[in-house]
Formats: sequence, structure tokens, C-alpha cells
Amino acid sequence: MKHRIGYIGYAGMGGGYHYEVAKDRADVCDDLAPLAVYDVRQCQRDLAVERGLIAYDNLEDLLANDEIDTVVVATPNQFHCELTCKALRAGKHVICEKPAAMSPAELQTMIDTANETGKLLFIHQNRRFDSDFMLVKHAIETGRLGKVYNIESKFCGGLMSGWRSFKDHGGGIFYDWGVHLIDQMVYLFNEPVKSVYADLRCEKSGEVDDRSTVEITFASGAKARVTVCGSFLAPYNRFEVYGEKGVMWVDDIYAESGTLRASTKSEWKSNMTTAYNENGPYEREERHLEEDLSRVTLPDDMPTLPQDWAKYLYKNIFDTIDGNAEMIVTHEQAMTVLRIIDAAFKSSETGKIIEF
Ligand SMILES: NC(=O)c1ccc[n+]([C@@H]2O[C@H](COP(=O)([O-])OP(=O)(O)OC[C@H]3O[C@@H](n4cnc5c(N)ncnc54)[C@H](O)[C@@H]3O)[C@@H](O)[C@H]2O)c1
Repeated sequence: MKHRIGYIGYAGMGGGYHYEVAKDRADVCDDLAPLAVYDVRQCQRDLAVERGLIAYDNLEDLLANDEIDTVVVATPNQFHCELTCKALRAGKHVICEKPAAMSPAELQTMIDTANETGKLLFIHQNRRFDSDFMLVKHAIETGRLGKVYNIESKFCGGLMSGWRSFKDHGGGIFYDWGVHLIDQMVYLFNEPVKSVYADLRCEKSGEVDDRSTVEITFASGAKARVTVCGSFLAPYNRFEVYGEKGVMWVDDIYAESGTLRASTKSEWKSNMTTAYNENGPYEREERHLEEDLSRVTLPDDMPTLPQDWAKYLYKNIFDTIDGNAEMIVTHEQAMTVLRIIDAAFKSSETGKIIEF
């Protein structure tokens, strides 16, 4: 089906990734094209015109263009809710950048507006389709690690600058990168959250956080600890995954392989061994699990996972609009991510564990 895209905010993401995808990817949707732009800056509107698009200097005119059926909202975070609701009310589907909103209440308003208008709201949580994360997900889903009880997820995303350095814009590394890494964990564990504990610190970025850790405990007791920071992290693995059958690590973002050390065979053994009491040594039966650990470099049995958000997410968005698919990034997941972020800010302020 024909889809023409309007952009609200047309710089890094809007004028970069979202523009390129709609322009180049016939495999995502056979009749998809960028059409028009509204950006508050003249320079970005000029860029749009140079690229052959229509540029508007006010939102209402963009929303009145009937040829546009889908709008991308790619502005600083504090405008997402208002702009998304206006676009939905104007009869457009919306692809809203992450973080979906500045609070769970704002996201609820956006979801309610989508439901009232019958238009679709997509949250662009693209990094759950990063190859490093997909490796981890595949290894877990194919049972190679057994039941997973702990994941460490770390990333150094660079210092905060521009609008990302202001709190009222929704700045800070936690909103910038934390939201991606949390979304990955929500998607992976797919179970209710029990509690959140966080330490969000500002080292070098003025008023916003730039060294932040959140520990999420899920209902089963499994834990995910996410650390994002602006400046250096000591040499680290992007992922460390601990399961009952083994451990897996992926050393870098966009990695196409990871290492898995897991037991292919394990059995309980009983031996007589020396133990001690007040009379000295004596013989006692011990029991322990003997494992046959093997080191495997993934992917040895998995499909190649290209770093291609369009293939997985953009295609799903337009397939959903055309009635041929279900949203991969659900509203419920997006809400859980924002509730975790909200709880993390509260936990960091109070030093307490926040129960969900
Ligand atoms: N999903 C990802 O991987 C990813 C990556 C980077 C950024 N983002 C998200 O994309 C959004 C934009 O980030 P960016 O890096 O493109 O920022 P940016 O600063 O490069 O671009 C934002 C644009 O929005 C315009 N703008 C500001 N207020 C506006 C308003 N009220 N109406 C219309 N235009 C307005 C600015 O003039 C600017 O051109 C943010 O929400 C950010 O979190 C997502």
C-alpha cells in the first residue's frame, strides 16, 4: 500500500535514519516515500527542500496535508507527547522516537489518544534488533544457557551535549541509552517486574545523569543490571549472561558473534570425602554436579543476524498499518520501560528499592 511520511523534527534521527529508510527500502514497503517536513529550524527546512521534500514552518500545515498518512516524531523528548497526540488527532499514524514520553502518564495519554482516534502509535525501540542483543536472545531461547538468573548489560554512550544536557528536555544518558537497554531486558524476560533499584549519577554533564545503573528484579527472581555512562567504563563486555547451564558473553555492540561456555552434559556424582568434626577427620559422602563444559563461539548454529533495524522494525510497522502483522513493540512493553525509568529516578533520589 502507498505510504507517505511527514517528519516532525528533521535532524539526527528524522533527517537521517527515518528519512533514509523511507527513501531507500522498497523491501520494507513497496510504496513508501518521504513527503514533507516540519522543523522549528530554518536550516533543517532548507535541507528538506534541497532533498525535494515539502517544508512547512508550522505543524498545522503539515498535519493538513492529506497525502501524509504516517508521521515520524523525532524531536527532543519533552515534545513527544504533545506532537504525537496532535498528529493522531489529525488522523495520522505515528512513529514516535524513544523514549516514548517523559512519564508513564504522558504515554498513557498518547495510547488513549491512539485508541480514541483509531490510529496506530508505534514506539521506535529499534535496538532490540541490534545483532549483539539478538545473539543473546537466540542463545537463551534455544535453551543453551538453561534458566537465566542474571544479565549484565553495559554501554558507554558518550557525554551528553546539546538538548541532551538539559533535564527539562528529557536529557541524560538514562533517557538516551538506558531506555534502549531497558527495553531489551523487558522484551527478553517478558515477565512482570518485581522491583527496581537505581543509582543515577552526574559526573560531567551539568544537570543530567551520565553514569547510571539500574537493577531490575523480575517476578521469577531473575535480575538484569543495566549500566550506561557518558565517559569511560573500564574494559567491559557489552553483555554477560548467567544461566543455570552456563555463561555467555558478547564483547561489543553490533557484535555478530559471542562466546558461550556451557555444560553440554551434567550429572550428579557421589564420592566419599574427608570432612572434619571435633574428633578430627572422618569420611562423609559429598554430592556435586559434574559438568562437561564446552566453549562455543556463537553463532555456530544460528542464522546470520544483520544489523538492520528496517528489516525487523520498519517492515513490522508498515505491515501492521496494512493489517498484515501485529506490533512488535507493544504499548504494554513501552509502558513497562517508562515505569522502570520512573521508578529508577525515584530509587536514585531516595536510595530505596521501589516495588512495582
Ligand atoms: N532510536 C534511536 O536509535 C535514536 C537515536 C538518536 C535519537 N533518538 C531520539 O530521536 C529524537 C530526536 O533526536 P535527534 O538526535 O534526532 O535530535 P536532533 O537534535 O538531531 O534533532 C531534533 C530536531 O527537532 C527539531 N525540533 C525541536 N523542537 C521541535 C518542535 N517542537 N517541533 C518541530 N521540530 C522541533 C530541532 O530543530 C531538530 O532539528 C529524540 O527523542 C531521541 O531520543 C533515537
